[in-house]
Parts: sequence; C-alpha cells; structure tokens
Amino acid sequence: MTDQNLAVIILAAGKGTRMKSKTPKVLHKLGGLPMIGHVLHTAAELGAAHTVAVVRHDRDRVAEAILDFAPSTIIADQDEIPGTGRALEVGLEALPADFDGDVVVLSGDVPLLDSVTVGRLVDAHRSRRDDLTMLSAIYDDPTGFGRVLRDENGEFAQIVEDRDATEQQKLVHEINAGVYAFTAAAARDAMSRIGTDNVQAEKYLTDAAGLIRGDGGRIAAVAVTDNWLVQGINDRAQLGATAREYNRRVLEHWMREGVTIVDPDTTIIERDVTLAPDVEIQPGTQLRGATTVAEGAVIGPDTTLVDCEVGAGATVKRTDATLSVIGEGATVGPWSYLRPNSVVGAGAKVGTFVETKNTSLGEGAKVPHLSYVGDAEIGAGSNLGAGTITANYDGVAKHRTVVGKHVKIGSDNVLVAPVELGDGVYSGAGTTIRKDVPAGALVVTAASQRNIPGWVAKHRPGSDSARAAEAASDTSNE
Ligand code: UD1
Ligand code: CA
Repeated sequence: MTDQNLAVIILAAGKGTRMKSKTPKVLHKLGGLPMIGHVLHTAAELGAAHTVAVVRHDRDRVAEAILDFAPSTIIADQDEIPGTGRALEVGLEALPADFDGDVVVLSGDVPLLDSVTVGRLVDAHRSRRDDLTMLSAIYDDPTGFGRVLRDENGEFAQIVEDRDATEQQKLVHEINAGVYAFTAAAARDAMSRIGTDNVQAEKYLTDAAGLIRGDGGRIAAVAVTDNWLVQGINDRAQLGATAREYNRRVLEHWMREGVTIVDPDTTIIERDVTLAPDVEIQPGTQLRGATTVAEGAVIGPDTTLVDCEVGAGATVKRTDATLSVIGEGATVGPWSYLRPNSVVGAGAKVGTFVETKNTSLGEGAKVPHLSYVGDAEIGAGSNLGAGTITANYDGVAKHRTVVGKHVKIGSDNVLVAPVELGDGVYSGAGTTIRKDVPAGALVVTAASQRNIPGWVAKHRPGSDSARAAEAASDTSNE
C-alpha cells in the first residue's frame, strides 16, 4: 500500500574515504547485497510515494546499482557543495514541488536498519506532531559519531559532530544514528539556512536540529535498543563486524524456520537464499546468491553453492557449485565441482573428483569417480565409469556429447564430441569413442591383449620383479 504522504530520501553521494577503496562505499557488499541494496529494500517496504537517492561520487556506478534494485527510484545529483545537509537539500528539490508530507532520511551506509524500526519512527513523528524526529543510540564507544546533546530536563538540544565536539561533549554516549523523519516544510526551511561553518566546511544536515529548536519547533530523538540496526559503516572493520552480525541474524531466522545449522560460526547464508524446514547445514557451508534448498536436503560440510536449486532430500557434500540444479534425492560429492548449467536429475549421483559443466544427468544417472563431463546430456539410469572424460573442445569450438538411457560406459573412456551413444550401449574399459554408437551395441577400441611369457626375466634380469616372477613360477610348479 502506498503512503501518499511519505517520501524517502537516501543519502549516497559521499566518497567513503575511510573505506580506502576504488569501489564506492555503498556498493560494498554484506550478506551478498551491496549496502545500498539493503537500504533500498527497507525503503521499498515503507511503501513511500517517492523514493529519491542522492548520488555524486562514482555517480554512474552507484546510480546503475540503485536502478537495478529499484527502477522507480528518482536519482538526484549532488553538486560540488559538500555535506549531508546539501545532499538532503538536493534530494528535497527532486520531490514534487507540492509534496508536503513527511520525509524519511536514510543513509546509504546504514544497511541493517529495518522497515519496522523506521515505521515506528514515522508513527512517533506523526503522533507527536514533531517537525523532526530522529533515531539515536547509546554506544559504549561513541567515537566518530555525532553526539545528541540534551538540556537539563533531558529534552533534545542539538547534535554536535565528533570533529567539532569539545572534550566535555565527547563524553556523551548518545549518538545520532543518521536516520530522520522530517515534515517536508521543516526540512526545506532548515536546509536552506544551514551554513558551512564547521571543521569540515560542509553543510551538516545535523545542524537542522539546532535551527528547528531555535525556532521553537518540535523535535525529539528516540533511542533504539538494538544498536546494530543503526550501525553506520565508514571503514572495512565496521563492514566486517556488521556483515558478521547480519549473517548471525540471517542464520537465526532460518533456525527459527526449522533449519538445522550445525555450526553457525562457520556457516554463511546470504540474504536472497531460501531454505525449507528440515534442511540440515553442515559446518563450513556457504549458501550464496539466489540459492534455494528444499525440505530434508543435507548441505555440507565444506560446500559452497551459488545460485543453485537443491531438491528435497538431496545430499551435497564438500562441493563447489554455481548456477546448477540438483534434483530430489540426488547425491553430490564429496569433492564435486558443478560449473554453470549443470542439472543433476532426481536420484542421480555426481561423485568424487567429478567436474561437470553445461550438462544434464537424467534421473538416476551416475558419474561416480574422477570424471569431466562438459556440454553433455546423459540419459536416465546411465553410468559413466571411473575416469570418463568428454573431450568437448577441439581447440576452436565446443561440441556436445549425447548419451542415451541405461548406457554403461567402462572405466577410462574418452567420448570425443560431437558424438552420440544410443540407449543401452555398453563400452569396454579404455575405449575412445569417436563415432556414434547405435542402441544396444558394445563399443571397444582397445587392441586385443597379448601376453608375452618370460619377458621380465629376459629383459629385466636380476630385478626384484624378475625374482618375484621366478618365485611365483617355482610355487606354481610344486
Ligand atoms: C553522519 C552524521 C552523524 C551521525 C552519523 C551516523 C552528519 C553531518 N553527520 O556522520 O551525526 O552520527 O552519520 O552514521 O550528517 N553523504 C552524501 N553527501 C555528502 C556527504 C555524505 O550523500 O556530501 C551521504 C554518505 O554517502 C552517507 C551518508 O550521507 O551515506 C552519511 O555520510 P557520512 O560521511 O558517512 O557521515 P558520518 O560522518 O558518518
Ligand atoms: Ca557514516
């Protein structure tokens, strides 16, 4: 439901100097999503009539990422005047001129903030009829954050930035979270009056608080109880700590939904992953991208799945898989490598030291050991013997291998593509298959075996092998 009286302005123009990175700060990822992606999710859940993102640093990259997540976002370009106050001013200008509802201001670098908390801020703002309502938090170590200063009655007085604070003010533990609900009128008025008289010579959004209060306006700071929600990310130490906490929360969510996570400390699950009840995650597992896992599947230990779909009851052990589908009841691993577009049918098996790519295995098909299967289609119930290799690449182009149903390939076969094997074919060990094989045929290419008696005694006289052979023939003569 759209709230016609609500607009969201996301500040994302800052340089992010403290990240020391070529990548703009708000594009650094946690939980598989750039920070700005999390913020856009929260904004979307608020159902605001307008969402504006203010950009400047690495403008095109940031704007593209924003529009990727939320195509209806209005992009506003900040000019050379620096500071969060200028950013908000530019954002306000991008709203329809007659918009006179409430404006929520979010920071692109506060990714864990959820829509429930912001919704409560808006409710408080509206019911108290404030001009400005903001979120604060009590930090053990408030270093680097703006401090919320209160008067002797505990009423909000002003915000002072860390760099501008006196030693006395630095002792204050209540910090400005950088999340605000303004009435549009109060925000417009305050932004037009803010100056740059501070250590950083920037327009500080936070000066709005003092201005509104000076005019006798209504203003309040509401402290959150869960500090992680408003954790701002300025450097990579904060990014690491926040990513870890985010992951902890994602795991907790899935455990409450009925997923067993044997070792949360070594498990990473990204935001867009979906898990069914009774999935079991073994230690050392990373589920990334849009991976989905159906009921009763066991994933891990030591498995990384990126954008994979795993069917009910499948087991996937010590495996690295990307963009692949693992069918119901299938078994994969240990030590399997599924490259993009591998489809493992229901009840099928991909075993030890097996690599697949752009390949489908039919229902119940098996590739148990030491194989490379690329650009291939393997029919239901077929078995590729140990060491089967599809030679799919002729140095110029890739070619397909098609294997019918219930085919039994012997060990150490090479299938030279393009090649097609009919249903029910058998192949001998060590066969190199270069031509199509009709259904039901046995294919062999190995030369027939010759034994040359006494070769070792004659050509390797006095060796351990010769002595062993002689001893064996003595016993057999007794
Ligand atoms: C800001 C607040 C501080 C608060 C802290 C909470 C100000 C002056 N200070 O400080 O009181 O405790 O957040 O996390 O607001 N941005 C722009 N344009 C700019 C500068 C910044 O869009 O010219 C954006 C940044 O991309 C970022 C957000 O505004 O998303 C906050 O900017 P940042 O420089 O990180 O402010 P802090 O120093 O953290
Ligand atoms: Ca910040």
